[in-house]
Amino acid sequence: MAAYETHTHEYDVVVVGAGGAGLRATLGMAEQGLRTACVTKVFPTRSHTVAAQGGIAASLSNMGPDNWQWHMYDTVKGSDWLGDTDAMEYLAREAPKAVYELEHYGVPFSRTEEGKIYQRPFGGHTTEFGEGPPVQRTCAAADRTGHAILHTLYGQSLKNNAEFFIEYFALDLIITDGACTGVVCWKLDDGTMHVFNAKMVVLATGGYGRAYFSATSAHTCTGDGGGMVARAGLPLQDMEFVQFHPTGIYGSGCLITEGARGEGGYLTNSEGERFMERYAPTYKDLASRDVVSRCITMEIREGRGVGEHKDHMFLNLMHLPPESLAERLPGISESAKIFAGVDVTRDPIPILPTVHYNMGGIPTNYWGEVLNPTAENPDQVFPGLMAVGEAGCASVHGANRLGSNSLIDLVVFGRAAAIRAGAIVDRESAVPATNQQEVDKALDRFDSLRNASGGTGTADLRLEMQKTMQADAAVFRTDKTLAEGKDKMGGIAAKLDDLHVTDRGLIWNTDLMETLELTNLMPNALATIVGAEARKESRGAHAHEDYPDRDDSNWRKHSLAWVDGNEVKLAYRPVHLEPLTKAEEGGIELKKIAPKKRVY
Ligand code: FUM
Repeated sequence: MAAYETHTHEYDVVVVGAGGAGLRATLGMAEQGLRTACVTKVFPTRSHTVAAQGGIAASLSNMGPDNWQWHMYDTVKGSDWLGDTDAMEYLAREAPKAVYELEHYGVPFSRTEEGKIYQRPFGGHTTEFGEGPPVQRTCAAADRTGHAILHTLYGQSLKNNAEFFIEYFALDLIITDGACTGVVCWKLDDGTMHVFNAKMVVLATGGYGRAYFSATSAHTCTGDGGGMVARAGLPLQDMEFVQFHPTGIYGSGCLITEGARGEGGYLTNSEGERFMERYAPTYKDLASRDVVSRCITMEIREGRGVGEHKDHMFLNLMHLPPESLAERLPGISESAKIFAGVDVTRDPIPILPTVHYNMGGIPTNYWGEVLNPTAENPDQVFPGLMAVGEAGCASVHGANRLGSNSLIDLVVFGRAAAIRAGAIVDRESAVPATNQQEVDKALDRFDSLRNASGGTGTADLRLEMQKTMQADAAVFRTDKTLAEGKDKMGGIAAKLDDLHVTDRGLIWNTDLMETLELTNLMPNALATIVGAEARKESRGAHAHEDYPDRDDSNWRKHSLAWVDGNEVKLAYRPVHLEPLTKAEEGGIELKKIAPKKRVY
């Protein structure tokens, strides 16, 4: 057994991750007087939310008519009818409240002439239940909205006495008698081990974009929550749905916000044609993301790509007034200069669809409580554990997320988790005692990786995984690519048993850190490719060339993947079809959101 001295901490709630969802949950818990710790592997304001650009969706109606029912409809349609209706209603209904709270906490939103929060158009956001013109629903702080939110929430959390454990890496959950009772962490700057016992653990660890070769996600987006949950024997949900953002900068993958098209930018092919007009005659460049990414890919395949290798497209902003670019899009103007050498006032930006977001994740209800579904009870809650933000799957994004629904997901569900914890965490009860057996299990796993002396380097194995996922679980998929990808990923995951960690034995070691992250990326990647291979239809981001149509009678259901080593077991759970509010009480009519052909 590994011998490590451990430091023990006791809290009502431990939040793992300090991005938008983690900080909103931390703040909400601390405001209610719950003793709250936030454990984070990076400094809070360096979390990946800081990179969110274009904005946060909420039907404030500051720029024209809007309401939560239209927002809900767009989210349902955007999800390609895979999202859970109750969760999608909760998101759209609570969004205005959550944004006004952010405003009052101090988020420096851009302003209209009258001083209201400025809102811009984003893809798939419409009026009149998809029948009217695009709506300006995305609340923006220039093109640095995530940055503004993160700084505000961190300051507010400190003000409310939340305690931060910065540069602590969560190794594994502590599970006691069928409930989560804490988490074991490794402190990165001195190598010490820390046991956090808690009445509630909230996973807010973000997505796993780095399972792919080219992603807009930070290098820290390694699916740590999903990895811990899989090792605890709990399932992951809807992992086959991976979003490609239409406009990553060609070569670097750096994000160019959809807000650029919201402000009037448009895409062109090698013939100078605004090709989106052909594919999406009504909403054109502001169609939903999965649609635009597929159209770009089809144009390239048909030989109308730009550049020497005809392998990308152009995003044009040159026609926009320089003052608007400076005021509304300063960040991406700078990114285009740095990463593509382009002056956006004169030249188009070379772009390519790039992995951006994971619709799937740890299954939860709309309060953020993690589910442990069984055939008898698909909505069974796993006590003591919550998941919010991109790590979780509530599921509001279904098969495809609308742009700017991510930031609102973070704050609505971070806030919901806090409301729920406020109701169910007993402040008077004792914090669970240390479960030494579980702590030892986590430390043994750490120790064996720390001393791993096999024949496979971590960076080599990670690259093999990333290239395979990029090639075989791409924008378009076929039976052949998916079957090959599934086989290859099985072999790649098996090599985790043969890892070779450099500087073996050192207790603070970056290769060891990357190895631990790789052991988290791998179950996420495996669940993705196995889930994709099994789903014989096309829906949202899962575009299957051998099954080009959506098949609601057989496949309108959530996939569940239990990952054990390199084995994945799949099952399915029903989509929630009932809204929270009945039509006669102001809710959306069910016939309005019944599945139909998804055109933009
Ligand atoms: O395009 C963007 O600004 C990204 C926003 C989002 O993913 O929600």
